[in-house]
Amino acid sequence: MAEKINSIPSDMLDWLQEKSIDMQRLMTYYKCAMLEVETKFKVLDAQYSLQHDRNPINSIKTRLKSFSSIVEKLERRGFPFSFESVEHNLNDIAGVRVICSFVEDVYTLADALLSQDDVQLIERKDYVNDPKGNGYRSLHLIVAVPIFLENEKRMMKVEIQLRTIAMDCWASLEHQLRYKKDYEFTDDSAAKLYECALLSMKLDSIMDELREKSNI
Ligand code: GTP
Ligand code: MG
Repeated sequence: MAEKINSIPSDMLDWLQEKSIDMQRLMTYYKCAMLEVETKFKVLDAQYSLQHDRNPINSIKTRLKSFSSIVEKLERRGFPFSFESVEHNLNDIAGVRVICSFVEDVYTLADALLSQDDVQLIERKDYVNDPKGNGYRSLHLIVAVPIFLENEKRMMKVEIQLRTIAMDCWASLEHQLRYKKDYEFTDDSAAKLYECALLSMKLDSIMDELREKSNI
């Protein structure tokens, strides 16, 4: 290894080092924006639970896209390799997944977040009211939020997925099955998963009826 590094010209090593510091800086900005959004949801959850005596959020998951996934996506989509290109073309470097108790909470939380004056909506895809062909449901938002650095304010994009526990259960298992190595994902598998998606829809609608009846 040491030999290989020694064989890299020193100007290239300097360049790589400089780029890696820039990349770390950019990823830190995304991480800050992700934390901002996570905190906003935690605040909304706390405030809602004071008013309504129940939590609309079951759990929150956050993730930063890995360097190799960023490179792979730029390559696949034919985008240039630069920091400007990452910021301009990729919307899902920082991801926040909000698992909600009931379908109603998905919309209440999304509306509450989007009504905040420092949150800019870039894109909204409603796969809850309009599920994907395979049965996938979730509400997707791409937003930009400010992060405050020592001498500047910077808007950073964050991908948010809001879904119920049932939607998350389906999506997590579907993802595992679809990408499982040595498992042939047949038309029959897709049909069975679609059936499961319908069941999860039914589950959500019965739970929502119960919520309405119980007045919570
Ligand atoms: P990407 O560029 O691949 O992220 O897709 P897109 O820009 O067309 O966005 P879209 O909003 O459709 O999907 C973004 C993300 O939603 C994916 O990275 C997944 O996390 C999730 N997602 C979308 N469709 C499915 C699906 O059919 N199954 C599962 N399990 N997840 C999905
Ligand atoms: Mg994605």
